[in-house]
Amino acid sequence: MTSLVLRACSLLVLCAASTAAAYDFLGAESCQACHPDAYAAWKGSSHARAKDVLSPVQQRDARCLSCHAPNDVDQKQAGVTCETCHGGGQYYSPKYVMKDPELARLAGLVDPTEKACRACHDASSPSLKPFDFAAALKAMDHWSVEREKRKKEQSSSRARPAPARSFAAWLSHQKPPGFSK
Ligand code: HEC
Ligand code: HEC
Ligand code: HEC
Ligand code: HEC
Repeated sequence: MTSLVLRACSLLVLCAASTAAAYDFLGAESCQACHPDAYAAWKGSSHARAKDVLSPVQQRDARCLSCHAPNDVDQKQAGVTCETCHGGGQYYSPKYVMKDPELARLAGLVDPTEKACRACHDASSPSLKPFDFAAALKAMDHWSVEREKRKKEQSSSRARPAPARSFAAWLSHQKPPGFSK
């Protein structure tokens, strides 16, 4: 843990930021380049359109916005966006941070929990059925495609010999002229 904090603090901005309450949002489009499948799934979901279902009058009603666009005023983001659930991306979205799961969390990446869902999917939302977390999670899947691709990439990079090893293999097959085993 200490080393992790040191690692995080080596990013000076992050140390300074840890005193701030919330991190700035960069917008769903900022995640799109690196997470195209997650973005596509989210864009087609009702979370992305949650503000659009409100009438123009309701779109100015803070009571409705609190669930349909909770970051409309503070971060100028409509709907329920990536960062509503995963936290503002200001510090975690650079690639070298994202690639380090611990560091990313230290930099504000949030793992959304059932409790977080229930902040909006509760008794005061209009659904007639009680909130079923497992089913709801399945219905908003935007990770399976990406995880599948990642698995494939990892196994294909294992199948390919590492450059250093293939050079060693090449070298081991080079027989100096005039020599035989
Ligand atoms: C520059 C590219 C890049 C950007 C921009 C980016 N990510 Fe990532 N993200 C990654 C990489 C790389 C990983 C690690 C995936 C892996 O292990 O291959 C990752 C991992 C994640 C994870 C999984 C973390 C874990 O450890 O389980 C989440 C959630 C995530 N990103 C959300 C976001 C969100 C939300 C945004 C936009 C605010 C975003 N990312 C922007 C590249 C990026
Ligand atoms: C506590 C959170 C919460 C608040 C506050 C809230 N909603 Fe919702 N609303 C939801 C959720 C969650 C759903 C999705 C219902 C479901 O579970 O299927 C929803 C669905 C809707 C839908 C149906 C959308 C569709 O796709 O058919 C409308 C319309 C709507 N809300 C309007 C409003 C209006 C107008 C207000 C303000 C007076 C409001 N909501 C306040 C959480 C909320
Ligand atoms: C309503 C909340 C919510 C929204 C909106 C949302 N996510 Fe997620 N996201 C989750 C949850 C919950 C999980 C974890 C699912 C699991 O582990 O079963 C997840 C998982 C992920 C993962 C996979 C992490 C891994 O371990 O492989 C990535 C990447 C990701 N989200 C990126 C995004 C991006 C990018 C957006 C916007 C385009 C977005 N999410 C919008 C809740 C959300
Ligand atoms: C900030 C509030 C908020 C949070 C947090 C949130 N949701 Fe939602 N969710 C909504 C609203 C609002 C709608 C309805 C949007 C609409 O119909 O226009 C909705 C719709 C949905 C729907 C589609 C329901 C339907 O019948 O079409 C699913 C599934 C869902 N949410 C799952 C989740 C899960 C799982 C989580 C937690 C990981 C979560 N939501 C977190 C506000 C939220």
